Amino acid sequence: MAIMKKLKTETTTDHKRLESYPYFKALEEHKLPLECYVNQLKGLAVIHGVLEGALAEASCEPVASVWNDSLRKLPFLVKDLEFFKPRIDPDYMPAIEAALAMTEKIRLRSIENPVTLLGYLYVFEGSTLGNHMHQPDITATFHLEGLTGCRYYASYEEQVPDKWRQFRETMAAALQDADLHDPVIAAAHEAFSGLEKLYSVLFPMEKQKNPFN
Ligand code: HEM
Repeated sequence: MAIMKKLKTETTTDHKRLESYPYFKALEEHKLPLECYVNQLKGLAVIHGVLEGALAEASCEPVASVWNDSLRKLPFLVKDLEFFKPRIDPDYMPAIEAALAMTEKIRLRSIENPVTLLGYLYVFEGSTLGNHMHQPDITATFHLEGLTGCRYYASYEEQVPDKWRQFRETMAAALQDADLHDPVIAAAHEAFSGLEKLYSVLFPMEKQKNPFN
């Protein structure tokens, strides 16, 4: 079976579990607090910063043939965070810790088996499909104008289906060696499970410990 079909089949349960988190229900019902949305952007900025750096630096043929700068999401996340900064600039440690835990695993993979970074990339590229559906919810919930404040959710805008098709093609061409499939799929599971941890703390928010107590 080709890698993209395998990735989809093997991670269907992970996707179902993740999309059933209360975060997404609140988002769809337009009840997500702004703080939770911004905490999400911060956590994802930490993860994308490390993942995109690791992908760009990986000296491994399959990664080099899939990765290019047009796949970067960090610039969108930074723009959104800059927009909200005057209003809200929280430091919510549970989300930052969940994001940092993912970056440790990404760093390890980039040293030990960089091709598996493509499993992480699969998960984040796939998330553009769900994000595209939810961008109008973000705009409506926070009364945003145009794409301001939701550039990450909009990402490829109307090109989402085309970009996804191109991504599927380059992944299939880069990962023809079936020996690479299991390790890439294991990395995709790891990415989903890291995101589960992140979304579980994003909403509802955990009470933060007072460091002075
Ligand atoms: C951070 C959260 C999420 C991640 C990481 C994620 C990840 C993915 C991935 C990897 C795919 C590609 C599946 C394939 O191989 O075809 C995908 C597809 C999709 N996702 Fe998500 N997703 C997330 C949240 C959501 C949510 C909340 C929804 C909406 C309820 C959603 C709706 C979809 C849809 C409609 C597709 C296309 C399915 C298809 O064409 O067969 N996603 N997502």
